[in-house]
Amino acid sequence: MSTPLIQLTGLTKTLKGQGEPRPILSGVDLTVRAGESVAILGRSGSGKSTMLSVIGLFDRPDGGQYLLHGDDISRVPERRAARLRSTEFGFVFQRFFLLKHLSAMQNVAMALVNGQGWHARRKRRDKVMAALEQVGIAHLAKQKPQRLSGGEQQRVAIARALVREPRVLLADEPTGALDTETGALVIDVLHAATDRGCGLILVTHDHAHANRMQRVVRLADGVLVQERQQGVLR
Ligand SMILES: Nc1ncnc2c1ncn2[C@@H]1O[C@H](COP(=O)(O)OP(=O)(O)O)[C@@H](O)[C@H]1O
Ligand SMILES: [Mg+2]
Repeated sequence: MSTPLIQLTGLTKTLKGQGEPRPILSGVDLTVRAGESVAILGRSGSGKSTMLSVIGLFDRPDGGQYLLHGDDISRVPERRAARLRSTEFGFVFQRFFLLKHLSAMQNVAMALVNGQGWHARRKRRDKVMAALEQVGIAHLAKQKPQRLSGGEQQRVAIARALVREPRVLLADEPTGALDTETGALVIDVLHAATDRGCGLILVTHDHAHANRMQRVVRLADGVLVQERQQGVLR
């Protein structure tokens, strides 16, 4: 079998707020392969967002091992982490974080400015349109966010995540602000990315959405417990 995209072994993370330091992750094991999708359930405050920010290299684990495509990046310095964030990961959050004075196209194009340098104008435009096409809203390319529905805005945000062709999509309650039907469409779009070999880690409260993923795990007491395993891994 090919090298996993992500392999976490015994990952730990303690957060220090005002009070006593609190262990949030106390031995997380997780393997995600290319094209594989994993849903993460867990009650509010269980550490799901903390785990995604460690995986997405916004934060570093205290202990354990994090292999990204076989490379040990458990203690990677910030400079390299920043580069990996922009080349390896696409992020989708509950809030869309679109710039309201920019069109859908321009919002997506923003993702190509940082990290990769300026592409030739034409090439950038083609990439942006391809990403909007992938999420089914190429016809809305010129619209500003306020003219779009919540689901359409989230699809712009997903196009912005996809345009750099990440190896892994990290989605933190991406349907949290959407109604069930619109949310299902957003899940369709995320799921389609795995057909092109992208790994997908979805944090969600919605069991129907979780069940669309190949595997479902639950974060409880700082560790991941298997909820459902699909028979065949690709
Ligand atoms: N920067 C921080 N410092 C201290 N505690 C934090 C910090 N961020 C989150 N927490 C706490 O860590 C726990 C896990 O938070 P979080 O990862 O956001 O959980 P979830 O996403 O599952 O709701 C919560 O109790 C939260 O209050
Ligand atoms: Mg959270």
